[in-house]
Amino acid sequence: MKRIITYGTFDVLHFGHINLLKRAKALGDYLIVGLSSDEFNAIKNKKSYYPYNQRKIMLEGCRYVDLVIPENNWEQKKEDIIKYQADIIVMGDDWKGKFDYLKNYCEVIYLPRTPNVSSAQTKSYLTKQ
Ligand code: CTP
Repeated sequence: MKRIITYGTFDVLHFGHINLLKRAKALGDYLIVGLSSDEFNAIKNKKSYYPYNQRKIMLEGCRYVDLVIPENNWEQKKEDIIKYQADIIVMGDDWKGKFDYLKNYCEVIYLPRTPNVSSAQTKSYLTKQ
């Protein structure tokens, strides 16, 4: 059983997110998503439209996702990889290089982002309507 882990806010779920989750899952058998908590988003100066519990329910409704866990801080990735026995950590290539320090614990793969779609773009468009 090959386990994959990825992280993000996944607010206003869009097809770029699903593309990422689909490609992540295709690298193995079991996909864990570390979903940024509302408190962690505040630390990152981000505010999601949907609160954590609703973002979690949406991700759990996605066929590629097997488990959603909270992401509460920058430092927990190493512990999560060990605890959940992850073989691969996957991130979008907007994070390229940032998680290379985890290579001692698992494989680190950056997948190309889907162009021209983001939660911020959707929110900005909708607020102008
Ligand atoms: N992602 C992607 N393609 C996109 C948007 C996001 O592959 N067009 C990936 C990111 O690289 C990350 C995951 O989806 O691995 C979660 O990204 P997140 O930051 O939650 O989504 P964004 O839409 O980029 O959010 P924002 O606009 O608020 O930055």
